[in-house]
Amino acid sequence: MALKITVIGTGYLGATHAAAMAELGFEVLGLDVVPDKIEMLQRGEVPMYEPGLEELLRKHVAGIEGASGRLRFTMDPAEAADFGDVHFICVNTPQKHGEYACDMSYVDSALESLAKHLTRPALVVGKSTVPVGSADRLAARLTELAPAGDQVELAWNPEFLREGFAVKDTLHPDRIVVGVRSEHAERVLREVYATPIAEGSPFVVTDFPTSELVKTSANSFLATKISFINAMAEVCEAAGGDVVKLAEALGHDDRIGKKFLRAGIGFGGGCLPKDIRAFMARAGELGADQALTFLREIDSINMRRRGQMVEMAREALGGGPFLGKRVAVLGATFKPDSDDVRDSPALNVAGQIHLQGGQVTVYDPKGMANARRIFPTLGYADTAMEAVRGADVVLHLTEWREFRELDPAELASVATTPLILDGRNALDPEAWRAAGWTYRAMGRPTA
Ligand code: UDX
Repeated sequence: MALKITVIGTGYLGATHAAAMAELGFEVLGLDVVPDKIEMLQRGEVPMYEPGLEELLRKHVAGIEGASGRLRFTMDPAEAADFGDVHFICVNTPQKHGEYACDMSYVDSALESLAKHLTRPALVVGKSTVPVGSADRLAARLTELAPAGDQVELAWNPEFLREGFAVKDTLHPDRIVVGVRSEHAERVLREVYATPIAEGSPFVVTDFPTSELVKTSANSFLATKISFINAMAEVCEAAGGDVVKLAEALGHDDRIGKKFLRAGIGFGGGCLPKDIRAFMARAGELGADQALTFLREIDSINMRRRGQMVEMAREALGGGPFLGKRVAVLGATFKPDSDDVRDSPALNVAGQIHLQGGQVTVYDPKGMANARRIFPTLGYADTAMEAVRGADVVLHLTEWREFRELDPAELASVATTPLILDGRNALDPEAWRAAGWTYRAMGRPTA
């Protein structure tokens, strides 16, 4: 009998995981506590923008014409417990208010509400990003609460998906990491991931703490890479170098590699910033805080970039206050191909300039609704052209393809001053300059 799978939490991670499991051929039941989300998903609609996800849902959600019907949703944990052989916990673990540590309350309550209904053998698999040591604690809690007792087991299986590539990353993962305590748990997870394993995805089997650490250390490494190149950008600015050329040259060393070396206004989003902070907090609890003090520097280099972008804009406008200056901002999301504005460097810069009296007009291809919700007092335009109309300066802050494909000559005809600052080092300086723009970018005083 094929395994039946439940997915608890239907955000970016859970909705994608549920649809991907249905695509792999399993019967899947998604569980969430938010009625609006469940209703949308039941209609085959995705509560956020993620390329390819809506198509995948519509291909499988029961009740949609032509769908496989393998994917259903519910709000009832008892139904989920009764249905599933394998239960994936995919709820979020945000930063705690006023602290660096991670808020485990959603994970705890997801596990507890499921556990008390588990009357038959099951494998509960944590996917959420958690502080090391959590799986150990949750395993004990699971055995204690589940009526089926030690017939119910926990495993940890961190998720590495990137927003914007979530579907691809889930169906074709670059590695599958499982923290397990028994051969049975490993066997079940090999069955769940049989298709990607057969396609060649490496399957790494380890213990609980290591599996939890893989995720937080991977994100720390990525954050370090970005802050490293941004630190080099600061030095380039001081020394008159060009960080884009520098990164290109460094990247040819395949021990370093060229990915994640794009200097600019730095990283944001719902993962990297809070994950490195939670990692520092946890290391402190374990008495290993010294090992991670460098992450404090990574975080501050990153946060400094936002302020430096604001100063670069001020300088470009003549050095005075922003009062009365019209500033066009291209980009609101923390990265392209997403509608996510959580801890977005772009929106942070737009907000700072606005709060200092600038008249800011933002345009983003997908992030407008979310940006408006968290920053309703900024100006918003329906197109890049409209945002740029009358602008004294244009800031390019999220590297959407749409912005690379803009016609600089057309935009120059509507801007008050053709002055563009590239906060992502993603535009073609020559094309913009040829169209009459003054082009400046972070870390490239001489470019
Ligand atoms: C990240 C990890 O990549 C993923 O493996 C993990 O599961 C979740 O966290 P994500 O948050 O989707 O994924 O974003 P990512 O693609 O890593 O980008 C993070 C931020 O870094 C973005 O704001 C992006 O603009 C910025 N970035 C990325 C740079 O500033 N320079 C770069 O060279 C690369």
